[in-house]
Amino acid sequence: PAIHVVTPTYNRPVQKAELTRLTNTLLHVPNLHWILVEDAQRRTALVTRLLRETGLNYTHLNVETPRSYKLRGDVRNPRFPRGTMQRNLALRWLRETFHPNRSRPGVVYFGDDDNTYSLELFEEMRSTRKVSVWPVAFVGGLRYESPKVNAAGKVYGWKTVFDPHRPFAIDMAGFAINLHLVLQRPQAYFKLRGVKGGYQESSLLRELVTLNDLEPKAANCTKILVWHTRTEKPVLVNEGKKGFTDPNLEI
Ligand code: UGA
Ligand code: MN
Repeated sequence: PAIHVVTPTYNRPVQKAELTRLTNTLLHVPNLHWILVEDAQRRTALVTRLLRETGLNYTHLNVETPRSYKLRGDVRNPRFPRGTMQRNLALRWLRETFHPNRSRPGVVYFGDDDNTYSLELFEEMRSTRKVSVWPVAFVGGLRYESPKVNAAGKVYGWKTVFDPHRPFAIDMAGFAINLHLVLQRPQAYFKLRGVKGGYQESSLLRELVTLNDLEPKAANCTKILVWHTRTEKPVLVNEGKKGFTDPNLEI
C-alpha cells in the first residue's frame, strides 16, 4: 500500500528547516505520497520550489486558517486547534481523488512538520487494515504516551495522565488510517468547533472505529518510533525593527 502523509505547514523563520528535515526523512520511504497543506492564502514560492526540488511524489494544497480562529487564551473563544483545516482539506482531496471501490490500497498518516519520524514507523503503518496505533514520545507531560495493550494484543485503554478517559487519548502522530476507511466514511472530518484541547484526534477517530478495532503496532506498543519534538524559536533580536540581514535571502 502507498502511504499518504498529510502535513500542515505555515510560514515562520524555521519553516524551510523543518520541511528540509522532513523531506530528508520521507525520501527514504518507498511508495510515499506527501500531501503538504500550507496554512496560507496562496501556495508560497518557498514551498513550491522546495517540493519541486525534492523529487518526492507530492500534492501541494493550501487553505488559510482565519485569523480570528488563531487567537488563544480567551475562555469564551477556545483555542482553535492547529493544522485542523489543513488536515480536513487533505481528507477532502483524498475523497475527491480516489474512488471508494476502485482505489489502490493506501494508508493515511497525519505527520506534522516538526516531529521526528523513524523509518521503521512507515513500514509498521503500511499494513494498517482500519486504524493502527503506537506510542508517541514527549507528549502529555510524559516521556511517552501509549495505548494500553493486553496479552491478546487488543487495545483496552490509554496510558496517559492528561484525560485518559478521552475516547482516543492519542496524539496526531500516534495513528494511521486505511485509505479505504477514509473513503467509505466521507462524513468523517476533524471537528473545528467545540473541541476541547486533546479531543481533536478523538473527533475524527470516533467517526471511523471503536477501541476494539485498533491495531497496535511497534511491537505491541513497546517501541518508540516517533517523537513529538518541537523546535525552539530562533532568537532574532539583532535584526532590529528594520531588519539587519537581506530580507530577499530565503532562509
Ligand atoms: C500538538 C499536536 O501534536 C498537533 O497534531 C495538534 O495539531 C496541535 O497540538 C494542536 O492541538 O493544535 P503542537 O506541536 O503543539 O502539536 O503543534 P504544532 O506543531 O505547532 O502544529 C501542528 C501542525 O500544524 C504543524 O505541522 C504546523 O506546521 C501546523 N500549523 C501550526 C499550521 O498549519 N498553522 C498554524 O498556525 C500553526
Ligand atoms: Mn508540533
